Amino acid sequence: MGYFPRADRAEHSLDPTRLYGAVEEAARNLGREPDVVFLHNPEHSLQEAAPHNRDVLTLACAALADSARQGICGAWGIASWDPSPLPELIDATTPKPSVLMVRAGLLVGIRTLDAADALAEALGMGGSMVWGMSPFGGSTDAPVWDRIDPRVFLRGGAGLSRVQAAFRAAYRLPQVDSIAVGTDEPAHLGELIGALAGEVDEQAIHQYRSLLRGRSHGQPV
Ligand SMILES: NC(=O)c1ccc[n+]([C@@H]2O[C@H](COP(=O)([O-])OP(=O)(O)OC[C@H]3O[C@@H](n4cnc5c(N)ncnc54)[C@H](OP(=O)(O)O)[C@@H]3O)[C@@H](O)[C@H]2O)c1
Repeated sequence: MGYFPRADRAEHSLDPTRLYGAVEEAARNLGREPDVVFLHNPEHSLQEAAPHNRDVLTLACAALADSARQGICGAWGIASWDPSPLPELIDATTPKPSVLMVRAGLLVGIRTLDAADALAEALGMGGSMVWGMSPFGGSTDAPVWDRIDPRVFLRGGAGLSRVQAAFRAAYRLPQVDSIAVGTDEPAHLGELIGALAGEVDEQAIHQYRSLLRGRSHGQPV
């Protein structure tokens, strides 16, 4: 919700009336109430129309909270590709979502990882309420995946493929409970489910985040 595709160009909006109407339209189109709807990348609309405007975000969240209260959807959440501007806009008056969805995985920079943690804390989200998305940055064919072996992030990960290891590690970058991944291939989905048996090496994740942070501060790695 908040991302309105049009014939000429897509438009972002946090207008509460449009958001509420979009949930109603989704329920009509689906023929049932959606289990969960997400406010889509609110940072985008805030940047375009109302930089750092806490009230705009609060009213947008209130519209989705209202739609859940009215039973037009089961629950609502916030999905954010770049959560950096959002934590400072959250206060006691911000309606709190049931789910926060953030970018997850080895392609996510330290600024975004830290901002995702800060946003989860500001919203008072427990671990099971934070979901990850896009663990491969949209493609497993990107050259970067040939250059790294994500199995270093697993304990005894020899039995898993690189793709499986990257998926498993994404659950700790940042800490998330579920991940939205795209695939047109049922066998690929099966592989990813199989990866959940892998055990993440928390120390390796910690070191990786420290390295990323050091690099962002210009320290030699
Ligand atoms: N808020 C935002 O701005 C935003 C932006 C992007 C995405 N998202 C969310 O994130 C979700 C996932 O993102 P995404 O689909 O763009 O990226 P993704 O999940 O990072 O990557 C999808 C790619 O991974 C491949 N893949 C998956 N499992 C595989 C396997 N076992 N082996 C080999 N390749 C595999 C898929 O190819 P195959 O089809 O061949 O399996 C597909 O090309 C979306 O559904 C959306 O909800 C949100």
